Amino acid sequence: MPIRAVSTPNIALIKYWGNRNEELRLPAADSLSMTLDQPTVEVVVSQSERFSARSFEKNDTERPLSVKENARLERHFLLAKKYLDNIGVAGAFPASASVEIRSNIPKGIGLASSAAVFSALAEAYGGFVNNLSRRDISILARLGSGSASRSVFGGFSAFVVGEGEELGSAYAEQIAPVGHWKLWDVIIVPSQEEKKTGSTEGHALARTSSLFEARLRDVPRRQKECIEAIREKDFGKLQKVAEEDCLDMHAVMMSSTPPLRYLNDETHRIVRDIEELRTREHLAVLYTMDAGPTVHLVCEESALPAVQAFAHAQKGCIMFEAGIGGGSRRVWPSYQQSHLWHLYK
Ligand code: PMV
Repeated sequence: MPIRAVSTPNIALIKYWGNRNEELRLPAADSLSMTLDQPTVEVVVSQSERFSARSFEKNDTERPLSVKENARLERHFLLAKKYLDNIGVAGAFPASASVEIRSNIPKGIGLASSAAVFSALAEAYGGFVNNLSRRDISILARLGSGSASRSVFGGFSAFVVGEGEELGSAYAEQIAPVGHWKLWDVIIVPSQEEKKTGSTEGHALARTSSLFEARLRDVPRRQKECIEAIREKDFGKLQKVAEEDCLDMHAVMMSSTPPLRYLNDETHRIVRDIEELRTREHLAVLYTMDAGPTVHLVCEESALPAVQAFAHAQKGCIMFEAGIGGGSRRVWPSYQQSHLWHLYK
């Protein structure tokens, strides 16, 4: 019976950059993020003779997967199977699967879909097995994309570094649930250019930076401060630590060999302008950037109108907005096999 699941991206406040084990995506340090409530990615997984994957855009047109993307999806399936086997629950898990991915993530909005895709797949794979814990779903998600381990949870979640070199040696945990603190992410996309180095390749370069060891020493303190700021809903504290960590990650990226320059002139200008605006108008807003020039402006509700107006005023940029989401979940009935589905449409 096909299993259907949905998930969404997340935005990191303490960044995940660098692994201790590239193959298993075991992180070198902790990280922390806020799960977004949109855009969604939906997957349908069915039992099949051999592994196959197809991907569709918002308007249902097929987006052919590259050889590399296909290989990553198949490898993820095999690792998930191996993990379930290791913990002794793979009995009902299919020998192979066909996977359909439907992404509502608009092209070029600078939101990586991998966190949403792999957390949705983990959720669907977990559906073949009885009573898998959220921790196990988070491990399954991590095997496809480290940051996907965090999208399994709603609200705020921490991807904990963990210990050991096993498949299950790192996972995410929820820090605060979705209703805890009403924050927003106003996303400004200055360039739709495809990035040249994806995060999978980028993580492997982190250790070539002479700044990486210092980053590893600082992250535990930042992670702690970030968790406190979230629990206490202290926006000033959150802003300070999130911006410090974002700039530190980009310093590591830029000092890698070869250097990874994800930010562009527009990113720097937007950051300068928002700093000026928040000082002038006393706004609870912070900026953060992942592996691309897109600026995420995370703000409290009181600052939202001013931040939206600021984003709209950015010429030549795409703008997108999200609240805090509930994390990945299975959806029932699966529209592909339900006879009743037409009644709900
Ligand atoms: O999960 P990955 O391998 O796509 O890595 C995500 C890396 C960043 O987005 C730059 C940071 C983060 O913590 O999400």
